[in-house]
Order: sequence, then C-alpha cells, then structure tokens
Amino acid sequence: MAEITNIEFIDDVAGFLRELKAHKIILLIDQHVYSFYQSEFEGFDSIIVPSGEQSKNLSLIDEIVQMLLEMDFQRDSLLIGVGGGVVTDIAGFVASVYMRGMRFGLMPTTLLGMCDAAIGGKNGVNSGNSKNMIGTIRQPEFIAVLTGFLETLPEQEFLNGMAEIIKHSIISGDDFFEFLKTNQKQILDQDKEVLRQMIQKSADIKHGIVQKDVDDQDVRHILNLGHTIAHALESLTEHLHGECVAIGMAMDSSIAKNMNLTDEDSAEKMKNLIRGYGLPVKTEFNSKALMEKISGDKKRRENHIRYVLPVAPGDCRIVNMSLDELSKHLRNLENE
Ligand SMILES: NC(=O)c1ccc[n+]([C@@H]2O[C@H](COP(=O)([O-])OP(=O)(O)OC[C@H]3O[C@@H](n4cnc5c(N)ncnc54)[C@H](O)[C@@H]3O)[C@@H](O)[C@H]2O)c1
Repeated sequence: MAEITNIEFIDDVAGFLRELKAHKIILLIDQHVYSFYQSEFEGFDSIIVPSGEQSKNLSLIDEIVQMLLEMDFQRDSLLIGVGGGVVTDIAGFVASVYMRGMRFGLMPTTLLGMCDAAIGGKNGVNSGNSKNMIGTIRQPEFIAVLTGFLETLPEQEFLNGMAEIIKHSIISGDDFFEFLKTNQKQILDQDKEVLRQMIQKSADIKHGIVQKDVDDQDVRHILNLGHTIAHALESLTEHLHGECVAIGMAMDSSIAKNMNLTDEDSAEKMKNLIRGYGLPVKTEFNSKALMEKISGDKKRRENHIRYVLPVAPGDCRIVNMSLDELSKHLRNLENE
C-alpha cells in the first residue's frame, strides 16, 4: 500500500528549497502568493499560475507542460506546487502526467491547503463546470508547511479552512472537538503556537483516514461529511465554499436527528462549534433545486447516494440513502 505523505513544518522557504536534493527544481507558484513573497523565490525557476479555480483546466495544464519541455525539465527534476488547493492540485496533476510522472513536492499556503487539499495524493482538475472530474492519485515527496504564509491570507479564506478543520473534528471525536472549542479565541486571533497545533492535529486526522483507504474506495468517503449539500449550495447561492460546508454539516446533523440517529443536544453541540467560528448553520434554499443538483453528484449510484451522517463528534456513519428519502428530509428542513 502506498505511504501517504504527512506534513512537516518549516521555518524558512528559501533555506528549505536550497537544502533539497534535486538535479533541477521548478516552482509552480500561485500568482497572489508570488506577489506577496517574490523575494523568497528569487534564484529558482518558477511558473506563475493565475489565482482561482478557473486555472484548474486542461488547457492550462498543457501550457505548463509546454513550458516544462521548453525549459528542459526531465522526469528526475523536482516540481513544487506553492499555493492553495488550486495550485497543489495542478502541481500534483502535472507531475503525475509529465513524461508519465516526475518528482513533486507541495508547499501549501492556505489553511485549507495545509490541513486538507495537500494531503492524500488526490490531484484533480475540472472539466467544463464539473469539478475535479479528471485526476490522478499520486503522493508528493513532501508537504512543507510554513504557517507564516497565513499572515497574508484573507479572512474568508481562513474560514474556508476552518470549515474543513471543524469537519475533521466532528469525524475524529472529542479530543480535537474540545481543542477547537477551548482554543476558539486563540485560533481566531491566529496565535502562532495554537495554529500550529491545530494544523498538525487536523492534518493527522486527514492523513490517518486516507492512509486506511489510499485508492478512495470506502473509508475515505467519511471526508465527504457536509459536502453533498455544500456542493449543491455552492452552485445555487452566493455563499463561499467554507460557508456551504458549514451549512451542509449543520443540515446533515438535523437530518441525523430527524432519522433518530442522534438527539437535539448532540446536533446543537456540533452546530454551536460551527457558529463559534462565525460560520453559518443555515441558509434559504429550494429543496427541489437542491435535489436536482445533488442528483448530478459523483457519489450517486442509480437512485441512491452514499451519504455521511454526523451522529456525534467521533461517530459519523456512511449510509446508502435513497434520493427520495434525502428529498423528504430536505423538504422538512426547507420549512423549518
Ligand atoms: N486534492 C484534494 O484532496 C483537495 C481537497 C480539498 C480541496 N481541494 C481543492 O482545493 C481548491 C481550494 O483550495 P483553497 O481553498 O486553498 O483555494 P485557492 O487555492 O483558490 O486559494 C484561495 C485564495 O487564496 C490566495 N492565497 C493562497 N495563499 C495565500 C497566502 N498565503 N496569502 C494570500 N493569499 C493567498 C489564492 O491566490 C486564492 O485567491 C479547490 O480547487 C478544491 O477542489 C483539493
């Protein structure tokens, strides 16, 4: 079974890069990150990737491949993705297919990247409006985390990361859940030491789950908590990704309660943690429109969908739910 790469903390970008053993290094850097930290990357070959989800497409991949060829990079050259999930996904994808596979490492610069997107070896790009429909599974040689990057990260992007971190705490259970409750102020104030502990714990949880299911067959589905509703809401509302994940998890806890899998106290406990980080737990929605989007979900099989329900922190269950049943629950929530 492939070993999943876990994160390592570093204190200095240029020093870390200089120490790497590679014949040739090429950095793939997010445009905003480059504008803030240009001096850190001086002296290294780099390709700047336009910021934003629209960069995750095959024509940009082809442009990058052409540049790598022109610059004479080989399979034993080392490609390093420096940016949020967009750039780490692109870097993993390019490295998996360039000359049938070249060496690569990742340097995530968003909270979501550090705790989630860079870990697990999934490297997806989009096809038209369909997210992550084309991809590979391949592990980076390293995931180097410099928490100092977070100083320039916009607050909304920080909260996007927090939604996934809260998800990890609901999946993993009481210790990390309590940590997020107790340290809420320090985390929102971005206390460096507490952030570092949070990132390590959250990354370890994702790492542990993925390690059990490298090929994304079974256990890893638990990471979809909140995401079925979130993806649908994202395309129907103005809410940002993290907000949609937060609302998705809160709605899933209500569904679990309506199915008598959990009680009001447990559902409220999970919602309170979400609220504590300033994330929403509900929004207005039309259940019919939501169901239409959900029917196009990758996780749907015929008229059923694999669905994750949060019963309590540390107890999330993967169930096979019929679309009719999900539709009934969404109609109930729409009227609440
Ligand atoms: N491969 C996986 O397992 C996995 C898991 C989760 C998400 N993802 C993917 O990750 C992507 C989302 O990642 P994201 O939330 O990191 O978004 P992102 O990469 O788009 O980054 C968000 C924004 O922050 C900016 N930015 C990045 N680092 C910065 C910094 N240090 N200072 C200032 N600005 C900075 C970027 O330019 C961008 O505008 C999606 O495409 C999603 O599909 C992949």
